[in-house]
This record gives sequence, C-alpha cells and structure tokens, in this order.
Amino acid sequence: MKIVVIGSGYVGTTLAALLATLDHQIIALDTDSQKVSIINSGKSPFYEEGLSELIKHSIVQGNLSATQDYGSAITNADLIFSCVGTPDKPDGSSDLGYIYEVAKSCAKYIKKGVIFVQKSTVPTGTGEKVSALLPDTCHYISNPEFLREGTAIIDSLLTDRVVVGGKNKQAVQKVIELHKQTLDNTEKITTITGIQLPDKAPEYKTNFVATNLESAELIKVSANAFLALKISFANSIAKLCDETGANITEVMDGVGSDHRIGRAFLNAGRGYGGGCFPKDVSGLIASSLEYGVDMPIMTAVTEVNQSMPGYIINKAGECCSGFVDKKVTVLGLTFKAGTSDTRRSPAIEIANRLSKLGAIVNAYDPEADDEAKNELEPNITIRPTLQASLKDAQIIFIATNWPEFTIENIQQVTKDKVVIVDCMNSLDSLAVRTAGFDYIGVGTK
Ligand code: UDX
Repeated sequence: MKIVVIGSGYVGTTLAALLATLDHQIIALDTDSQKVSIINSGKSPFYEEGLSELIKHSIVQGNLSATQDYGSAITNADLIFSCVGTPDKPDGSSDLGYIYEVAKSCAKYIKKGVIFVQKSTVPTGTGEKVSALLPDTCHYISNPEFLREGTAIIDSLLTDRVVVGGKNKQAVQKVIELHKQTLDNTEKITTITGIQLPDKAPEYKTNFVATNLESAELIKVSANAFLALKISFANSIAKLCDETGANITEVMDGVGSDHRIGRAFLNAGRGYGGGCFPKDVSGLIASSLEYGVDMPIMTAVTEVNQSMPGYIINKAGECCSGFVDKKVTVLGLTFKAGTSDTRRSPAIEIANRLSKLGAIVNAYDPEADDEAKNELEPNITIRPTLQASLKDAQIIFIATNWPEFTIENIQQVTKDKVVIVDCMNSLDSLAVRTAGFDYIGVGTK
C-alpha cells in the first residue's frame, strides 16, 4: 500500500516509522522543510527513544521518504493518516485550522475510495465537518492516538486499545488490520530500535474497539480528561496530607490498590503539562459548552492543576524565608522526563515564578535547552550540566523527575546544607535527610 502520514510531530513520525517496517511505501508529509530534510537524512526531528534508529532503517530500505509536496504524495495514496496539531485558542477551544487545511489540500488530489484516517485529537462532531470537505468516495475514519511522548514506540506496541470509528465497516476493518500487522511486527521493531519491552509483553492483550465516528472522537478526549482528573484528585488530597500527618504516596498506594481505581496517574506533584492534557481538558470544556453541556468537574481539574506550581513555591518559601537573592537551581524543564518537549511545562512555570520572586535562578535539563530558552525569563541561566547548575545552590527544585537527578549525583557537587524541593516526590525523603539536606515534598513531610 502507498500510505501518506501528514504531520511529522511525535504522533505522525512514530506512526510513519512503524508502518514503514511493514514494507508498505510510506511518505511523511509536512510543510516544515527542516523536519522533511531531517527525516530524509535518516533521523528523528525530535528526541524520542528508538525513533531515529527506526527512521534510519526505513530510509536505507527505501520504504520511507518525506516531502512537502501534497500533489506528488496524495495523488497515489491508498490510505492517508492526518496527524497534525490542534493547538488551543486563547478561549480554551481547539484550533482546528490545520485539520481543515489538510482535508482541503488532500481533496484536490485524492483518488477514488481512499481511506482518510484522522489521528489528531478533535472534539466530537468534527469528523462530519471534515468529511464534508473530502470527495464523497473517500472513507473518513477516526483512529485517535493514545501514545505518550518519551515512550511513543513502546506505547504503540503495548497499547490497551486501538479505537477505530467510521461509517464504512470495511474501511474500519482495514485500519484495524493495519494496526494488527504493526503489533505482529513487534520483534522486528524492537530489534531495530534496541528497545526492551517488559517481560510480560507477550501476554499483553490489545482491545480493538470499533465504534461510530463520534464515539471514537469522544473516547480519546474523555480518556485524557479522566487521567488529568486523577492527577488533580491526587494533588487535592496531597494538600490535605500537608495539613495532616498523612503521606500522599502511602495514601495513593492504598487507594490505587483497589483494582476498580488503579494506581496509575495518581502521583501528586507540580501537576500535568505537555501538548495533550491541558489542551484536551480545555477543549472538552469548550466543545461541551457548544452543545449546551456544562463541565464544572473539568474546570475544577484545571484550577487545581494551575494551582500546583504556586502551591509548592509557597510551601518552600515558608521554610526558606522567601527567595529574594537566593541561589536557586531548577532541575528539569520539560513537562515530563524522557522528552525534549517544554510545552505547558509546570517546570518552566516554577523557574519563572522563582525568578519573579527575586531568586537567582540556574536551570538544567538533559534534553530541553534550546526549546526552553524562549519560554524562560531572560535572567534565568541554563547550565550545560547538572554539576554546573548546582554550583553554589542554596535551594534545589527538582521540577521534572529525570533519572539523573538522584541524591547521589546531587551530593557529589553540593556539599553544603541545601534545601531540596522535590516537586514530583521522586526522591526518598529519608535518604535525602540522611544525606544532610532539608527535604520538602508535595503531600509528604
Ligand atoms: C498523554 C496521554 O497519557 C496519552 O495517552 C495521550 O495520547 C497524550 O497525552 P503525554 O502528555 O505524553 O501523554 O504524557 P503523560 O505521561 O500522560 O503525562 C502527562 C503529564 O502528567 C506530565 O506532565 C506528567 O508529569 C503528569 N503526571 C502524570 C502527573 O503529574 N502525575 C501522574 O501520576 C502522571
């Protein structure tokens, strides 16, 4: 098959690279010339474990190429995946401009009977509007993506569910088959990438969920909104833990061991960020309102999330008598470990707030330097190494839990008594105190 994947963000690039291992002919289509030339040179346009190896393999094999040219790519396509961004507008609703643009651009060249698959996260009801822009002979399918940045390849191979919604049953089945083939190709993919799957991987069961168009769209948004809700719930309980003797990790271990609830996404800390959760929650609120449905539960989720950086800074400020002229190091700037993405990163928010409160802020992140610079207050200095960032620090905020931010690594550089603010509860408080540091966590003493 000739398959075109439009959009070379982490969803589109991962999908294109995975499909190329199936010996289909894959074209990655993006308007950004830089991304196109990076992919054609056999690399990933951003950091994602195993992705460069996968791209290089398929470029060498001749199964993958990238282009900016719609005409040449779409004219021969049998299947098209649309994986472009849906940024949020200032009012919180999703900007679907790229989604419609892609459909219009494809409509000029698309041949009869093509399956057009929407991977991007869109409000329910969008599919009808997009398919109206495509020729009647085209089969429109919603196949939302659930992978996470940093574990994109593993998530694609060990996925709980593949959701495919659409009117045409055969087209739905064809998209399901393509996913099944990719999962059957797991061994080849892990060999190329060197990615180790957990021991239990062979027992993993994927549910293939065939639905109507609107349900598929709503499953994606609802799943992300529910995960965001779990995080804000844990953060609300963490605030109560701070006022009592309870420990949030113990509480959530206990709560989450009820299989009806589950332990995942109950880690308290500085809150969620990234390209998905904040946007999906605000998008759900805005699109529900369009249908006259109020979503106060999701408004509360956003409010709790936005309160967390300030909450942690206040808690630390009370213990440190403020931050004016204090040398503060912020470790981690990405919205989570394992990615170079700093979009809506609570870690950036923490660094900027500290700077505004008068602290002399040094920052370090293993992956985010270039991206982060544009979002940071101008007087924050990004240091090239963990060691350099920690020099003379009086207070250390671990704002993102990169594995290298261990107490052993910090101890090697920081001999004086400093305060460690563990914004994601990633360290053992006892070990930190035993090493001679003061410890401040979230929902824990
Ligand atoms: C998310 C969804 O998990 C994925 O299914 C969807 O396709 C895209 O959005 P992603 O944004 O890449 O993936 O990262 P994820 O690992 O889900 O983390 C999101 C944010 O929540 C991060 O900032 C993370 O630090 C935070 N988080 C996560 C918590 O604060 N606590 C938790 O318990 C889990």
